[in-house]
Amino acid sequence: MIKGKKIAIVTGATGGLGREFVRLLLKEKNVDEIWALARNEKKLSRLKEKFGKRIKIYSIDLSSVRQIKCFGEELHEEAGRKNLEISYLVNNAGFAKFCSYGDLSVEESLNMMHVNMDAVVAMGLVCIPYMKKGSHMINIASQASFQPLPYQNIYSSTKSFVRNYSRALNVELKEKGICVTAVCPGWIKTDLYKRAEIGARKATTKYVGMVTPDKVAKKALKDAKKCKDISIYSLFTKISHIAAKLLPQRMMMKIWLKQQNLDDE
Ligand SMILES: NC(=O)c1ccc[n+]([C@@H]2O[C@H](COP(=O)([O-])OP(=O)(O)OC[C@H]3O[C@@H](n4cnc5c(N)ncnc54)[C@H](OP(=O)(O)O)[C@@H]3O)[C@@H](O)[C@H]2O)c1
Repeated sequence: MIKGKKIAIVTGATGGLGREFVRLLLKEKNVDEIWALARNEKKLSRLKEKFGKRIKIYSIDLSSVRQIKCFGEELHEEAGRKNLEISYLVNNAGFAKFCSYGDLSVEESLNMMHVNMDAVVAMGLVCIPYMKKGSHMINIASQASFQPLPYQNIYSSTKSFVRNYSRALNVELKEKGICVTAVCPGWIKTDLYKRAEIGARKATTKYVGMVTPDKVAKKALKDAKKCKDISIYSLFTKISHIAAKLLPQRMMMKIWLKQQNLDDE
């Protein structure tokens, strides 16, 4: 029998957190190749230059179901040719906008939902058939999933979806021996803010407890290997998690608004 090729798929691989997953997954024994997905071709090429020939790059807009289906067809063909197995699927691509509900067009609002939620579901459905016992799906949610966040209302809602969806899917996939982990980081030092800060009158501006992406990715991978359904890095984020369980959501929103100096109008 031909030895199968074991791959890891990382979406948003060119971003701060995605790149760290690529770096770490290259060291894994059960990963022969990493398929790196994002839109920007130049950044993808730079990623390949940096990490070498075990990286296969795909320029794809994950807000498009059509493009995800095309990717699925390519995966199917490749799987047929090379007896492919997906050891890791890291659904990491995502973005935020720090503003009020009325600062975004209908298209911009829905685009965030497509990338942050729909793509996670679609990529999962496309990839699960090639995942085996011991494979991992790592879905990047956020600390923003713990409670409703005014002035990040869509972003926090999309991340709540990712967290709940991942944990429920983890239960369903137990029979196949596939683990799903929802990663819930607090503020991470990445380029997310370049896209999120749009100069809105009312917006998030205080980034308490910011950490570097390498730490988040390392903890996420460690937790995934233990088949934990949720991964939280840093004491600050863990405390927020507990607080969100104990305190009424209305109170959590008030604390958030106060912390962000958004409670004065
Ligand atoms: N930074 C934080 O404070 C923080 C906190 C909690 C959770 N997170 C989550 O962590 C994940 C990674 O974000 P990051 O902080 O590393 O941000 P980042 O540096 O901006 O990276 C985002 C990545 O997603 C890709 N991406 C964005 N839109 C895409 C689309 N339509 N199609 C395909 N790829 C797309 C980007 O590449 P292209 O632009 O080339 O497509 C990039 O590779 C996100 O899900 C984010 O919500 C971040």
